[in-house]
Amino acid sequence: MPARHRLASRDTQVRNIFDRIAGRYDLLNRIISFRLDALWRRKLIRVLGLAGRPAWVLDMGTGTGALALDACRVLAPGARVMGVDFSRAMLQRARRQGARAGREPRADYVMAHALAVPVRNEVFDAVMSAFVLRNVGDLEGFFRESYRVLKPGGQVASLDMFPPPQGFFSRLYWLYFGRLMPCIGSVVSGDPTAYRYLSDSVRSFVAPEKVAETLASTGFMDTRIHRYLRGAVCLHVATKPGRAPRDNQGTAEP
Ligand SMILES: C[S@@+](CC[C@H](N)C(=O)[O-])C[C@H]1O[C@@H](n2cnc3c(N)ncnc32)[C@H](O)[C@@H]1O
Repeated sequence: MPARHRLASRDTQVRNIFDRIAGRYDLLNRIISFRLDALWRRKLIRVLGLAGRPAWVLDMGTGTGALALDACRVLAPGARVMGVDFSRAMLQRARRQGARAGREPRADYVMAHALAVPVRNEVFDAVMSAFVLRNVGDLEGFFRESYRVLKPGGQVASLDMFPPPQGFFSRLYWLYFGRLMPCIGSVVSGDPTAYRYLSDSVRSFVAPEKVAETLASTGFMDTRIHRYLRGAVCLHVATKPGRAPRDNQGTAEP
């Protein structure tokens, strides 16, 4: 990990959780979300319009590399994907899965904090993340760093889970996500605290409108919120002002 960013104690806790559950993370995602997580990631890739582009893309909090791999599947030759994460165990799995997929372009995986990505300014055509925001204590810092590394005209897209609006669905949701899911997580991963953390992190997360406000205050424009599962999962998409050079042009190596 580059020395540029010291881990806060919350970061250390989060990193330790993902180091512990890395081996069961993908399986549990599939079980807990009934495979909807894969569908939502693909929606993100579609909304960013990455198909057939030789774009340079950053995946913040890449984990086991599921989103980065989805991007590699649709990008054109000449594209580059960088996956950044601070959990060594999650990155090991990302590298293994990337090698197994064996397709070009391949993602490069880098161990770093999402608030200190080790690249120059204005390198990427798009910055994306899935299920990461809740884990990063400093929302504004996260989007400031995304803004820094994006080219003018580039897009940021962030998918995450939010507390659904009060009502019948929310009561059902918390029955499942607050009670049943942590038990399933505990049995399958053998780690009772990790999946309790997952549930608690959603319960205490901000509203989607707050994320949109933070995007605007960081300098992004044209924020759109796509809501899935009655608002329990939202995708935020916004643009850095300015006219972009064509994909993958106007910059040297990151
Ligand atoms: C819930 S997982 C999501 C992984 C992946 N994006 C996916 O779609 O499955 C969250 C990931 O973000 C990483 N993460 C959380 N906070 C981070 C931070 N501040 N810097 C770098 N990685 C972070 C964790 O290590 C973990 O791998």
